[in-house]
Amino acid sequence: MEIFSFLIFIVSYMLVPSLKISAATLSVSQYVTDGETLVSNSGVFELGFFSPGKSTKRYLGIWYKNITSDRAVWVLNRENPINDSSGILTLSTTGNLELRQNDSVVWSANYKEEAQNPVAELLDTGNFVVRNEGDTDPETYSWQSFDYPSDTLLPGMKLGWDLRTGLERKLTSWKSPDDPSAGDFSWGLMLHNYPEFYLMNGTHKYYRTGPWNGLHFSGSSNRTLNPLYEFKYVTTNDLIYASNKVEMFYSFSLIKNSSIVMIVNINETMSDIRTQVWSEVRQKLLIYETTPRDYCDVYAVCGANANCRITDAPACNCLEGFKPKSPQEWSSMDWSQGCVRPKPLSCEEIDYMDHFVKYVGLKVPDTTYTWLDENINLEECRLKCFNNCSCMAFANSDIRGGGSGCVLWFGDLIDIRQYPTGEQDLYIRMPAKESINQEEHGHNSVKIIIATTIAGISGILSFCIFVIYRVRRSIAGKLFTHIPATKVMTVPFYIYGLENLRPDNFKTKENIERQLKDLDLPLFDLLTITAATYNFSSNSKIGHGGFGPVYKGKLADGQEIAVKRLSSSSGQGITEFVTEVKLIAKLQHRNLVKLLGFCIKRQEKILVYEYMVNGSLDSFIFDKIKGKFLDWPRRFHIIFGIARGLLYLHQDSRLRIIHRDLKASNVLLDEKLNPKISDFGMARAFGGDQTEGNTNRVVGTYGYMAPEYAVDGLFSIKSDVFSFGILLLEIICGNKNRALCHGNQTLNLVGYAWTLWKEQNVLQLIDSSIKDSCVIPEVLRCIHVSLLCVQQYPEDRPSMTLVIQMLGSETDLIEPKEPGFFPRRFSDEGNLSTIPNHMSSNEELTITSLNGR
Ligand SMILES: *[C@@H]1O[C@H](CO)[C@@H](O)[C@H](O)[C@H]1NC(C)=O
Ligand SMILES: *[C@@H]1O[C@H](CO)[C@@H](O)[C@H](O)[C@H]1NC(C)=O
Ligand SMILES: *[C@@H]1O[C@H](CO)[C@@H](O)[C@H](O)[C@H]1NC(C)=O
Ligand SMILES: *[C@@H]1O[C@H](CO)[C@@H](O)[C@H](O)[C@H]1NC(C)=O
Ligand SMILES: *[C@@H]1O[C@H](CO)[C@@H](O)[C@H](O)[C@H]1NC(C)=O
Ligand SMILES: *[C@@H]1O[C@H](CO)[C@@H](O)[C@H](O)[C@H]1NC(C)=O
Ligand SMILES: *[C@@H]1O[C@H](CO)[C@@H](O)[C@H](O)[C@H]1NC(C)=O
Ligand SMILES: *[C@@H]1O[C@H](CO)[C@@H](O)[C@H](O)[C@H]1NC(C)=O
Repeated sequence: MEIFSFLIFIVSYMLVPSLKISAATLSVSQYVTDGETLVSNSGVFELGFFSPGKSTKRYLGIWYKNITSDRAVWVLNRENPINDSSGILTLSTTGNLELRQNDSVVWSANYKEEAQNPVAELLDTGNFVVRNEGDTDPETYSWQSFDYPSDTLLPGMKLGWDLRTGLERKLTSWKSPDDPSAGDFSWGLMLHNYPEFYLMNGTHKYYRTGPWNGLHFSGSSNRTLNPLYEFKYVTTNDLIYASNKVEMFYSFSLIKNSSIVMIVNINETMSDIRTQVWSEVRQKLLIYETTPRDYCDVYAVCGANANCRITDAPACNCLEGFKPKSPQEWSSMDWSQGCVRPKPLSCEEIDYMDHFVKYVGLKVPDTTYTWLDENINLEECRLKCFNNCSCMAFANSDIRGGGSGCVLWFGDLIDIRQYPTGEQDLYIRMPAKESINQEEHGHNSVKIIIATTIAGISGILSFCIFVIYRVRRSIAGKLFTHIPATKVMTVPFYIYGLENLRPDNFKTKENIERQLKDLDLPLFDLLTITAATYNFSSNSKIGHGGFGPVYKGKLADGQEIAVKRLSSSSGQGITEFVTEVKLIAKLQHRNLVKLLGFCIKRQEKILVYEYMVNGSLDSFIFDKIKGKFLDWPRRFHIIFGIARGLLYLHQDSRLRIIHRDLKASNVLLDEKLNPKISDFGMARAFGGDQTEGNTNRVVGTYGYMAPEYAVDGLFSIKSDVFSFGILLLEIICGNKNRALCHGNQTLNLVGYAWTLWKEQNVLQLIDSSIKDSCVIPEVLRCIHVSLLCVQQYPEDRPSMTLVIQMLGSETDLIEPKEPGFFPRRFSDEGNLSTIPNHMSSNEELTITSLNGR
C-alpha cells in the first residue's frame, strides 16, 4: 500500500511538475500548496497560505513581500479557513480557480465560461488575475482579486460599482486581528441619486465621506495638494445612452514614486479607515490619515438640521431658523434629537417669501434623499427647489469652475459639519420669517425711500412705529386689504405683511390653471425665458424699475424681447396677478409698449414685452450728447405720442387706467424714435385698487408726483396729467425736475419755469440741444400747456383730451394758476435733514410705500 501510494506520488510528481517557488503565474493543472508561494514579477507581492495573528487556521492571501507584517492585504477564503496545511490552489482546464482541501472544494471562483489557455498571475499591482495566456487587457480578465476586496484598498483598486454586471467592490473589515472573516464595518458606495461612500457599522451609518463635488469628497479635506498620491472619483456613462451610468468608483494612485507602499484599510479594532505608508527606515507602517478624524465626523452626531463645528463648545448648533427639538436634552449635551423648525414647512401653505440661506464651507447633508441633474445651473436649481415644498436645500453638484449641476435635498438635513474654509456652498430653505436676518444676502434688494417723509413725519423710526400700528390695525380689522407688493425693508412690516399675504396663496391650483387657460396671451415657459436672458445674467440686464429688474432677451426664433422680472417677494396673489395681466394685455395702442406674454411659475412672475431698441427717453433728453439726436420736431412728435398714449389709457381703453408713474424713464423709443409708454397697469396690477380716490399705497417717483397724490394719497387721471406736465417741461428743458435748473439754488424745474413765466422769459428754459431746431410758437405752447398741467389743484388741470387739443391747435390758452410746487428742494424743509444724501443725489428715486399719509 505504502509503496503503491509512493509510486502514485512519484508519477504524479513527474506528470504534474510542481510549482517553482517565486514564479508569478499558475498554469492549468499546476497548484500552490501550503508553504509554496507565487511572487509577482518585480517581487512586490507574494501569494500563499498564512495564519493571521494567533490563529492556527490557514488562509490563502496576498501580502507585500518586503513588509514585515503578518497582515495580508487580500484574503481569498475569509469565511472558509482550512484547519491544516493540506490546502491547495489550482486552476482547472476551464480557467476556474479553486481552493481545495484534499478532495473537497473549499472555495471556487465559479467561473463558468470556458477559457482558451487560462493562466493565473499575480501582478505587481497586487492584483491576482485569471486571463487567457497572452491577453493582458484588464477588460478581458475572467477573474481578478481586485473585484473582491477584503479590508484593504491598494493603489489602482476600484471602490464602487460596475453597474453593467452589478458588481459592488467594497471593503469589509476583519472580525479581529486573528480572524479575517467579515466584521461589522464596511466601506462602500451607496447608489443614491447623488452617491457617496459610507463607513457602516453593521446596518448603521457610522461615517460618510460626503458626495464627490468634482474636486474631492464634500466631507474630506482638500487633499488635491498632497505630495504622495492622487485620487479620483470616476463616473463613466454608457456610450449609447449617455445618461446611463456604467461605472462609479473611487481609486487612488501613487504619483511621485510607485515603489512607495501605501494602503488604505479598515482597522477593525479602532473602527476607522486609515491610510498608511511603509517607512523603510522605521520598518513599519506609519499612519498618514485616519477617518473619521474627530467627533464631528461621526455620522449625525448632532442630530437632524444641526451643524457640527469642532472648534465650538459645544460643537453642535442648530441651523439658523431651527431650534432644538428637545431643549432639555440639548442643553444637557444630548444632541441626538436634533433640531426642528419652529413652524413646520407646509405644502398647503406655499410661502412666496421662502428664502434660501447660503452656508459656505460645509460638508453637505446625507444624500439619501436627493435629486440630481448635472446639466442645470444654480439658478434653475433654486427654482426647482423653490417649486417643491419638500425641497429643503440645494447646491451645485460640481463646484469646479464656479459650480455647475444641481442637487436637491428632501426631508431633514442630516450630518452637516462646518469647515473653516472651503468652496462648498449649500442653500438651505428658510421660511421668510427665519430669513430676515439673512436679508443682507438679499438678491432682490430694492431701494426704498420712505414716503412718510412727504407726509412730514420725521424719521424712520416713527415710520416704523406707524407702520406697525397701521398694519396691526388692519389685521384687527379686515384682514385682507392691499398690502403693498413691493418690499419695504423695515422689518416690522415685513413680518406682518407676510402674515397678511398668505391667504391669497391658498387659491387652488386648478383655479389658477383654469385662469391661465382662459388667457389668450402666450404663457412663456420659464426655461425659455432663462435661456433667452442667459439665465438673467447681469449682462442681459437693461434696467431696474420700481417693480423689478428688466432684462433684454432673445428667443430661439431671434425675436428680441424685454423681460420684466417682478420682484419675487411681491405680495400679489396669482389670481389677481393673472387678472391684471389679462387687462394689461388688452391695452393695445401704438404709443404703448406691447405685452407679448408672461410667465408665472410659483414665485416667479415675469412679463415679456416687445423690445425697444432705443431705450428710454431719459437716456436721450438728460444727456447732452445723445440729446442732440432728438431735435425739436422729434421731441414734439414724442410729446404728442405720449399724450395720445396717456389719453388712450385714461379714456379710450374703457378701463380707465391711471398710470401713476409716468416719467421719462417709462417712455421707451422704438427704432423710429416713436414713443411708447411702459409700465402702465403696473400700479393697478400691484396695488390692487384702481378706483379714484384714496389709496393706501403710493406708487410713483419723486419729481413727477402730483401734490395731492404724494401728500394725501389721492390719485386720479389728473395726477397723471400733472406727471405729464413735468415730463413736458423736462423734454423742453433737458433737465430733471428734481435737479437744479440752470443753477438756481432754491427752485426745482417747475418752480423755475413758473418764475420765468411770470417774468415772461420762458424761452430761457429751452434746452441748448434744441435751440437751433425749435419752433418758438410750438415750444411756447408746450410750456404753456405744461404749466396748465402742473397747476396745484387737480380740478384746474386739463384732461388729456384737452391737452391734445391745446397742443395741436392755435387757439388761445387760459392763463395757468400757480403750480403745485411740490416737491420743493428738500433742503428747504428743515425737518427732512435726516436724508439729504438721497435727496440731493441725481438718481431717480422710486417711491413705493405702504401709506401716503
Ligand atoms: C525587497 O527587499 C530586498 C532586500 O531588502 C531588495 O533587494 C528588493 O529590491 C526589495 N524589493 C522591492 C520590490 O522593494
Ligand atoms: C478540519 O476540517 C474538516 C472539514 O471541515 C473536518 O472534517 C476535520 O475534522 C477538521 N480537522 C481538525 C483537526 O479540526
Ligand atoms: C486529507 O487527506 C489525508 C490523506 O488522505 C488525511 O490524512 C487527512 O485527514 C485529510 N484531511 C482532511 C481535512 O480531510
Ligand atoms: C457599532 O455598533 C454596535 C452595535 O450597534 C455598537 O455596540 C458599537 O459601539 C458600534 N461601534 C462604534 C464604533 O460606534
Ligand atoms: C521611491 O521609494 C523607495 C522606497 O521608499 C526609495 O527607496 C526610492 O529612493 C524612491 N525613489 C524616488 C525616485 O524617490
Ligand atoms: C489597528 O489599530 C491598532 C491601534 O492603532 C494597531 O495596533 C493595529 O495594527 C491596526 N491594525 C491595522 C490592520 O492597521
Ligand atoms: C417634490 O420632490 C419629491 C422628490 O423628488 C417628489 O416625490 C414630489 O413629487 C415633488 N413634489 C412636487 C410638487 O413636485
Ligand atoms: C483645493 O485644491 C485646489 C487644487 O490645488 C485649489 O485650487 C483650491 O484652491 C483648494 N481649495 C482650498 C479650499 O484649499
